[in-house]
Amino acid sequence: MIGFRTLAVPGPTNMPFEVRRAMEVPLEDHRAPDFPDFTLPLFRDIKTIFQTQTGHVFIFAGSGTGGWEAAITNTLSSGDKVLGASFGQFSSLWVAMCRRFKLDVVNCDSAWGTGVPISEYQTILENDKNHEIKAVLVCHNETATGVTSNVAEVRNILDRLDHPAMLFVDGVSSIGSIDFRMDEWGVDVAVSGSQKGFMMPTGLSLVGVSQKALDAAATSTLPNGYFDFQDMLNMNEQGYFPFTPAATLLRGLRASIDMLNDEGLTNVFERHRHLANGVRAAVDAWGLKNCAVAPKWYSDTVTAIVVPEDINANDVIKAAYHNYGVSLGGGLGEVAGKVFRIGHLGWLNETMVLQALGGVEMAMLDAGIRFQPGAGVGAAIQHYAHFNKPLTMAAE
Ligand SMILES: Cc1ncc(COP(=O)(O)O)c(C=O)c1O
Repeated sequence: MIGFRTLAVPGPTNMPFEVRRAMEVPLEDHRAPDFPDFTLPLFRDIKTIFQTQTGHVFIFAGSGTGGWEAAITNTLSSGDKVLGASFGQFSSLWVAMCRRFKLDVVNCDSAWGTGVPISEYQTILENDKNHEIKAVLVCHNETATGVTSNVAEVRNILDRLDHPAMLFVDGVSSIGSIDFRMDEWGVDVAVSGSQKGFMMPTGLSLVGVSQKALDAAATSTLPNGYFDFQDMLNMNEQGYFPFTPAATLLRGLRASIDMLNDEGLTNVFERHRHLANGVRAAVDAWGLKNCAVAPKWYSDTVTAIVVPEDINANDVIKAAYHNYGVSLGGGLGEVAGKVFRIGHLGWLNETMVLQALGGVEMAMLDAGIRFQPGAGVGAAIQHYAHFNKPLTMAAE
């Protein structure tokens, strides 16, 4: 294929040249005497992206899935009760992993397209008078359905009930893209990965850990090897790792954190909201439905689009890939064949989104979906173009 492929999956995302260049370095000695000159500021600054001052962010070689495991095995013991909810592929997989580790999961099976069921969580926690529930799981942004849940509300419930359970958050497709506040929301373990909001290759598992989670680690009896928080803490304090770190990726991460902070986290979140609104305008104009069933659930990083019942969403994905070089996210689990997903996160601007939407329109036509060609792209243009904004903005 001549020209760029369009990467419109919700991770890996597009990699900025700054990140790429930062990683174009000779391999280095991770035990060098001056390695901490690089790592100590990195450990400090990654905390800004998790919006934590009191926690630690551990950087493992791994991916988001490893982060789930780190959260579980460090802080819990076999048979511990945890509260979770399944409303998409990733929230379900985290719950399944808890069961593999022989945790006693109280699971709220919720409709795909909705998010964490706040009132159900509240009732279960209210009834847990003996505080048997040790951890509450929240998948902040369910990437399979494009649903964002309200972490702050779960924190409020725990606080109102004076419930001591730890709060675990899957922030794999939210941290660095949409507002996530580890300290303010009292999050005890926050899991992310390098390949989404951090605009990097896959390969780093980023795990934010509170003091409460570290304290829990002291009494947790689940076996723990590579992902041991205390081993990390001991070595990180000196600027080193208990294993060979993915130093090249750490160089990329440095550039990524700097880019996010240079733009300003609030601006990053606003940009994602703005881009997402354009995509949602396109979906409306096509006469299709967002898999997220109500605006309160809409994700600013990924939109899952429900195709008409007589269409297989995989045909759209295949046409996009083969005919136009556009990679879209597929439907996972329960929504396989029913949705395709557009990732709109990371190093992305309006024109890049329009490119993806144009490819989607051609692919939908090829797959037999009927709509006025250009309708979605036009709606997004209406949203993005400066002509309908104050003149001062257009002049900037
Ligand atoms: C919300 C969410 N959680 C967890 C994961 C698993 O992360 P990884 O694929 O990096 O292991 C993903 C992957 O896309 C995700 O979107």
